[in-house]
Amino acid sequence: MRIEPATALVGHIAVPGDKSISHRAVLVGAVAEGETLVRGFGRSADTESTIAAVRALGATVHEEDVDTICVEGSGLRGLREIDAPVDCGNSGTTLRLLAGLLAGQSGRFELTGDDSLRSRPVDRIATPLAEMGAHVETADGRPPLVVQGGSLQAIRYELPVASAQVKSCVLHAGLYAEGTTTVVEPLPTRDHTEIMLAAAGAPLTRRPGRVSIGPAERLELPEVEVPGDFSSAAPFVVAATLLPGSELTIHDVGLNPRRTGLLDVLARMGARITAFNRRRSSSGESMGDLEVHSAELVATRVRAEEVPLLIDELPLFALAAASARGESRVEGAQELRVKETDRLEIVTTSLRALGVRIENRHDGFGVRGVPSRPKGGGMDSGGDHRIAMLGAVAGLVSRDGVEIRSPQAVAVSFPGFFELLDSVTQR
Ligand code: S3P
Repeated sequence: MRIEPATALVGHIAVPGDKSISHRAVLVGAVAEGETLVRGFGRSADTESTIAAVRALGATVHEEDVDTICVEGSGLRGLREIDAPVDCGNSGTTLRLLAGLLAGQSGRFELTGDDSLRSRPVDRIATPLAEMGAHVETADGRPPLVVQGGSLQAIRYELPVASAQVKSCVLHAGLYAEGTTTVVEPLPTRDHTEIMLAAAGAPLTRRPGRVSIGPAERLELPEVEVPGDFSSAAPFVVAATLLPGSELTIHDVGLNPRRTGLLDVLARMGARITAFNRRRSSSGESMGDLEVHSAELVATRVRAEEVPLLIDELPLFALAAASARGESRVEGAQELRVKETDRLEIVTTSLRALGVRIENRHDGFGVRGVPSRPKGGGMDSGGDHRIAMLGAVAGLVSRDGVEIRSPQAVAVSFPGFFELLDSVTQR
């Protein structure tokens, strides 16, 4: 697919529901009592993997509408052992969060996924689950992951990596453990699990840097209102910032501060982005509207403490930095190496091929930005949705356009991405 250069992004849009919250609504709904109505569900290949997984394990999910689903819960211990492996597709969130719930069920469960997912680390969840008393097997630290539920004991777990997926997995298992399970975070990561479990009535307490959960008797989560996915809004935010004359409003988008690190980073680079109509969704998430005007940017440094707050947006940050005057840097982002692809490697090689002066470091990258358009050329998404979207934004802001190979990878998180982008692009 070829993306030609654009002059501006103009208009009003809304993006599909947040993927992280949509996964959690299905998973928590599946072990709750009664029905969970999920409004604004973000339909994508990844969230379909979660629906398929809980269905395979015995929960019922009704599709009410394209973005409304209803999960009929099986109760905390109601998921059923099945003969076949559970296929989590491309979705690390499905596999890691589900494993925590399965550790509390009776039976033996095998979780697997596509080639990308089978190359990603799961020892990070196998270790705490085994410490809690589950029987866990991996293929040398990678999926397939086999979890044999058992009677679990609470643990105090200091996360060795700042990962919301690992934190969420341990909190899920903590619902079934005897005693109080505490997760200590080296750095704040997204807290959608904490917000949703508290809304479902789980005995959860939060203090700075740690979260504790006691065993739950039952969960009830009648309704979840899912805001638009900030990570799906981010390509639009960056494109509108870089294209002079842009004026773009993104409505009803999630503005949880653990997700919007990109806004803080862009603000100190000189971006003109305003959040308004700030409110809370009925299920406790911050949301609002964003108005983006184009701006000239200056370089900045993204430190390790900030990285979890924009982990999925760092590829887009690299592109913004390419047009920002001066030297930008990202440190402490080695986690990018174990995402759907090695994103440190793929971002640096692809952007370099488009004419960006970017250097790969062991834990991040450095960019020498110039306030002009990158040349353009070709890039391959490598099957990674965030890289396909990066390619599209790179094409719009380039001089000669960008030819994207495997653009269909966007469907992992945002099936209508190219159509929506086209609807606000001016050439
Ligand atoms: C996610 C957490 C992040 C993020 C992923 C979704 C989640 O992963 O990269 O896209 O929903 O919890 P880590 O927690 O492993 O950093």
